[in-house]
Amino acid sequence: MHQPTERIESAVAPGSLFLSAVAGAALAAGGFAIGVGATGVAGESTSFWYLSRASGFVAYLLLWGSVMWGLLLSTGTGRAWARPPQLLGAHEYLSSLSVGFACFHSLVLLGDRYVAFSLGAIIVPFAGQHQPLLVACGQVALWLSLLLIGSFQVRRRLGGQLWRRLHYASFVAFWLAFVHGVLVGSETAMVWATALYLGTAGTVLFLTMHRVLSTPRLQTMMAGS
Ligand code: HEM
Ligand code: HEM
Repeated sequence: MHQPTERIESAVAPGSLFLSAVAGAALAAGGFAIGVGATGVAGESTSFWYLSRASGFVAYLLLWGSVMWGLLLSTGTGRAWARPPQLLGAHEYLSSLSVGFACFHSLVLLGDRYVAFSLGAIIVPFAGQHQPLLVACGQVALWLSLLLIGSFQVRRRLGGQLWRRLHYASFVAFWLAFVHGVLVGSETAMVWATALYLGTAGTVLFLTMHRVLSTPRLQTMMAGS
């Protein structure tokens, strides 16, 4: 099932890493600018809260997409309808955009007077007063996602095996974001939000099971027993 990751990686379009990084950084800068009031946009106090919640859902859906694409890559399932370089490109864009929207989602809170997050409380897990544990789940998910993106740049120094192991942190990031969204969010009880959380968690669980059951070592063990 596993294909040589190095071969897939070398097929990434040269400027694509740069482009997806620029898109993510632009979203983060936009969130910061709106949050500190530099743009004059969203001057009314509840607007920040709505902007944050809407972008939180976008970030979550993109993170889910990134995890699904990653699993399509590692299991080889997606090869039936897309070539690995295209899958990798999509995976990379989804990851960077998810991080960009998550930065926007959190930094725009700088403008909200009700929860009153300082920059430090947004960046440092547990540093704020508003639901510290549940907000920290989102903060750690974001830091882990940044680590995953950064690790790709230094993968040759890390070595393939260590890089792959580090990539398992993506599952931790997804489930932390899931817990964060479900438990801290105001929309969870709505039918559409419940369906969204159940649908995304269910599909990740399904492909993860497929991934675990299709590892060569497990298949050898099962064939031998
Ligand atoms: C938010 C950031 C990211 C998340 C959540 C994420 C998630 C995942 C997941 C869940 C897998 C499947 C892992 C497995 O089955 O062991 C995967 C595989 C993979 N990801 Fe990512 N990823 C992220 C960033 C990146 C970046 C920036 C790249 C580089 C372009 C990348 C390249 C890959 C590759 C090449 C694989 C296949 C690895 C293999 O076959 O073992 N990922 N990713
Ligand atoms: C990968 C990172 C993150 C994702 C995917 C994410 C996603 C979400 C989602 C889906 C919601 C639910 C919105 C609603 O129901 O209205 C939410 C709520 C929230 N998030 Fe995040 N989040 C992330 C990181 C962060 C960070 C770093 C902070 C830092 C301050 C944060 C602060 C909040 C707050 C305060 C709420 C509550 C909004 C409400 O009451 O509805 N999140 N997040």
